[in-house]
Amino acid sequence: MSHVPTAGPLAGKRVLVSAGPTYEDIDPVRFVGNRSSGKMGFAVAAAARDAGAEVVLVAGPVHMDTPAGVSRIDVRSAAQMHAAVLGALPADVYVGAAAVADFTPRRVSEHKIKKTAGTDTLVLELVRTPDILADVSAHPQRPALVVGFAAETHDVARYARGKLVAKRLDLIAANLVGGAEGGFERDDNALAVYWDGGERPLGPASKHEVAAQLVDLIAGRLPA
Ligand code: C5P
Repeated sequence: MSHVPTAGPLAGKRVLVSAGPTYEDIDPVRFVGNRSSGKMGFAVAAAARDAGAEVVLVAGPVHMDTPAGVSRIDVRSAAQMHAAVLGALPADVYVGAAAVADFTPRRVSEHKIKKTAGTDTLVLELVRTPDILADVSAHPQRPALVVGFAAETHDVARYARGKLVAKRLDLIAANLVGGAEGGFERDDNALAVYWDGGERPLGPASKHEVAAQLVDLIAGRLPA
């Protein structure tokens, strides 16, 4: 879609979206990453634009075209994504759709790590990355609506509701990784969205349709 609407349920609102994986460098040629395609976050950015919002999209390393009318900031690591997202505040809505690495190598080796004769193992020391979502939620310029994603393999409702409380979110959208529906590299998706006192299933449908439904839900829960 190439037209950029200025009317709609999110007209006048600024929506910040993070999408894609992060890559955590080990040495000049290797990194720790994950299989997030960025499709869901990019679809949310396009849907928010279609709803009339000004959209800023912070993208990890993905092969995706920028939706027309969306401002994109490219990053690589969790630390860079953290800085870019916090630097893009204030916003009315933050949607954390990125699959942020939870751990990063304690240090990046300046030179390519070599195989050493007689050694069969390599120990990589990893340290926690900053929790972008929790930091946005605790920020003095906290958006009115902070939305997280949860990729769970089991006990989806319990873990998603736990994250809603722990990270002080307004909404959490859970998808079942590896199930028949939803997943990292697919074009379609099904979400279960939870908030304090409610829940709603979205899809299964294309990621674009699910994103439009999520944006409708966000617009409906945004204080006037
Ligand atoms: O706790 P978990 O990583 O499963 O939570 C997923 C949610 O938290 C996603 O919305 C993701 O974007 C966000 N997240 C984050 N910073 C991290 C890890 C996860 O913003 N370091």
